[in-house]
Amino acid sequence: MEKFKIEGGKRLEGTVRVSGAKNAALPAMAAALLTSEPVHLRNIPRVRDIVTMGKLLAHMEASVEMSPATPDEVTIRAEKLSDAEAPYELVKTMRASVLTLGPLVARTGYARVSLPGGCAIGARPIDLHIHALEKLGAEISTEHGYVEARSKRLRGAQLCFEKITVTGTENAMMAAALAEGETLIENAAREPEISDLAEMLNAMGARVEGAGTSTVRIRGVEKLHGATHTVIPDRIEAGTLLVAGAITGGELLLTHCEPKHLTAVIDKLAQAGIVIRAEGNGLRVHNGGPLTAVDVTTEEYPGFATDMQAQYMALMTQAEGTSAITETIFENRFLHAQEMVRMGAQITVEGRRAVVRGPARLSGAHVQASDLRASASLVLAALVAQGETIIERVYHLDRGYERLEEKLGAVGAKIERVR
Ligand code: EPZ
Repeated sequence: MEKFKIEGGKRLEGTVRVSGAKNAALPAMAAALLTSEPVHLRNIPRVRDIVTMGKLLAHMEASVEMSPATPDEVTIRAEKLSDAEAPYELVKTMRASVLTLGPLVARTGYARVSLPGGCAIGARPIDLHIHALEKLGAEISTEHGYVEARSKRLRGAQLCFEKITVTGTENAMMAAALAEGETLIENAAREPEISDLAEMLNAMGARVEGAGTSTVRIRGVEKLHGATHTVIPDRIEAGTLLVAGAITGGELLLTHCEPKHLTAVIDKLAQAGIVIRAEGNGLRVHNGGPLTAVDVTTEEYPGFATDMQAQYMALMTQAEGTSAITETIFENRFLHAQEMVRMGAQITVEGRRAVVRGPARLSGAHVQASDLRASASLVLAALVAQGETIIERVYHLDRGYERLEEKLGAVGAKIERVR
């Protein structure tokens, strides 16, 4: 299994380009199942989850073209879907496969998707997805580890999610786009990825209004046509790179990112003493002096993103004072804490709350990645640690970060991928 070898203590300086958002590209690829016509997607990040989604669509006999000449583009043609199934061996490697459930049952009247099972950060059930599809008229059965959905034609309905769910909202929007009549989704997720999906669906001929707010209205249509769509920049990669610049005491210019998707993160980092300025089509970040410990609580968008919690914890190990980090979205998202403690961080975890005392001098160590964002936080800790860090299982990182070692290496990090 591949590892990262990182020599800490280098200031990062220079310009880094932010890739397209994995969590916008995945629903966009699933949405291509809603039409028999070609869908062209641009600004697609070259990360493992995108390759997995491409394999999943190809398994259903959709054609998926990714040409080396244009590596950040993909063309999907779901002309005929012979096998409307997302098999266990693919779903177990990427729970976002569940995003094919809504489009498949809306387009073909049938879907069979393996239940994703839990993951390192929590149980992550899909009961809210299933309940929404039932309200839209699908007959659902779950047995042998699969969920099956059947419906001649979905019917518009009034949905209200009892918990805010990002992919649940996306599944419901895609299913409702081809349902008969109007659907109202209340307590919808408001993430930028939701608005991006709505923009793509409307380009395909759907009629979606209110995306980005808690109430989304979809008027179903008979058919959807092909479209070309450019996905939004990855706000979590951008946030991760902002922390990388700050934690090393360097200065970075991030290009091709969207500052307005990062307001809560930028505000929190500024409270900690980091100077972030909009510049061109991006953000410039540098340290405004010693970092100050500041509490944070993760919340659904537009609050502080749970996907930035681990990265923020790495930063707080270098801040003066004590900070409390409260994780409200997932029940087990502090796996990175113990690995940082092995590097010398002072962190105690009680339930959904972690307390970080800083600044702590970190020393390089042999550590294990456990999930996508935990791996990113260990890279950040390694960048500032004295000596060499080996991070095992970087495949977790590759799921959501495009060539991170090249991007960081190009701005001064001493980082290499080793077998
Ligand atoms: C999306 O996951 C993202 N993934 C996650 O990013 C992100 O952490 C999460 O939203 C929260 O922002 C993609 O978009 C592909 P949820 P999702 O449904 O949709 C519970 C990353 O790092 N829940 O919003 O799966 C759930 O257990 C990944 O890129 C139910 O109880 O998250 C969680 O506690 C990690 N029943 C909470 O809701 C359901 O049916 C929010 O989950 C669905 C969710």
